[in-house]
Amino acid sequence: MDTMQNTYHELTKHSYLSVRENSKPLDWSKQPSVYKVYENYPKIPLDLNNKTHKFLYMLGGITAKKSYPGVEYYLRTVPSAGALYPVEIYFQSRGVEGFVDGIYHFDVANSAIRLLYKIEDDEGVEFFYPDRRVVEGFLFLYSGVYYRSSWKYKDRAFRYLLLDAGHALGALEVASFWFEHAYYILFDFDKLALNERFGFENREFFLSSAVVGKRGEARVKRFGMRLSYVEATYSFEKNPVIEEAYIKTVWLRGCTKSFFYPRINFVRSRLEEAIFHRRSIREFTGTPIKKEEFEFILEYMSDKVPSDCDERVDIYYVVNRVEGVKKGLYKNGELLVEGDYSKKAGYLCLEQALGSESAVTFFLTGSAKSNYQPLYQKAGLIGHRVYIAGEYLQIGVSGIGAYYDDEVREFLNTEDMVLYAIAIGR
Ligand SMILES: Cc1cc2nc3c(=O)[nH]c(=O)nc-3n(C[C@H](O)[C@H](O)[C@H](O)COP(=O)(O)O)c2cc1C
Repeated sequence: MDTMQNTYHELTKHSYLSVRENSKPLDWSKQPSVYKVYENYPKIPLDLNNKTHKFLYMLGGITAKKSYPGVEYYLRTVPSAGALYPVEIYFQSRGVEGFVDGIYHFDVANSAIRLLYKIEDDEGVEFFYPDRRVVEGFLFLYSGVYYRSSWKYKDRAFRYLLLDAGHALGALEVASFWFEHAYYILFDFDKLALNERFGFENREFFLSSAVVGKRGEARVKRFGMRLSYVEATYSFEKNPVIEEAYIKTVWLRGCTKSFFYPRINFVRSRLEEAIFHRRSIREFTGTPIKKEEFEFILEYMSDKVPSDCDERVDIYYVVNRVEGVKKGLYKNGELLVEGDYSKKAGYLCLEQALGSESAVTFFLTGSAKSNYQPLYQKAGLIGHRVYIAGEYLQIGVSGIGAYYDDEVREFLNTEDMVLYAIAIGR
């Protein structure tokens, strides 16, 4: 058993006591910025009338503004724990019409992309992958600016970083379907070398990547880009627990490749609406959902995730209000125990009403022997599938990152790690 990967997860469990003992007020003077802007690089505004630009926008662009007295903040196509948005998106474009071949950053604040570096034919980020054949098309790179999350969630923030990155991959999945080009995820690349080349200085690190494109025959020979550090938070506090957790889980072992594209049963135009309108529900009315609706969501959640390091995620769920479905605790479609566990589910999610007033509350789990970074991001991706399928059916969804780890395990009767909870309902 890999005790190293376990240590971080074990160390960052919530319990009834830990939540009460460790709740310090936030230091607002150290609140991190949620935007990284490469000011000194050419800015290309995203034009929503251009299909490729719109596809890029779907990956993390701004879709709503909320105003409270004294503050305004912007919500995006992706959800984020605490709306802290620690994930940054970079991509390499090669041979895509309308784009200079090069490395780009998604400048979310300005709804634009920035060209960071032009690449020659024989160079590219493929240099850092086991397969160095050129990718004709897009190669996306996802990083985490960890202090954005650790400012609020302290050591547990690495989990949220991985979940948020998983949501970003989920956003790519549905966007790629809309864009009519398949995608697949690559977790296996030299992230540490790329962190250096991007000048992240240990404050930001790569977590995953994904391809929307085709392999050519030629092999990349080099990658000349070296960027200097660009501010992403405007305040920073080192978190040694997170830095260590990243390093200990960055090298992958015994990966299973599985490149099956999921069956996505969406009408393209309605999917576009779901992508742009997706939101987290704040409160349920307690109205039941239909059996077919629930099955539509569960089927999509359970479908294949195309990647070079696929890890098993189990889907447990508490049915509270689904017409024609028995109340109880289920695992991967099978009833484990019948009964009304709605209060229990709410309690387990740190007493959040979302967990008890839902139609269904999901708990995603995975083995401690798995590769932690791919496993956790897959849980986030599945969470994103719930959001999109929910929005598509006009059913409310909220991700829930806070739960009493050991009590959930006891309730589910599993030794596996609890990765994520998600509530759906009306
Ligand atoms: C990993 C993750 C964990 C979350 N945990 C909670 C939670 O415990 N409780 C909650 O009410 N919302 C939770 N949310 C929802 C966020 O608060 C929400 O995504 C964010 O405020 C942005 O709003 P939007 O999703 O409507 O765009 C979570 C979201 C994510 C992605």
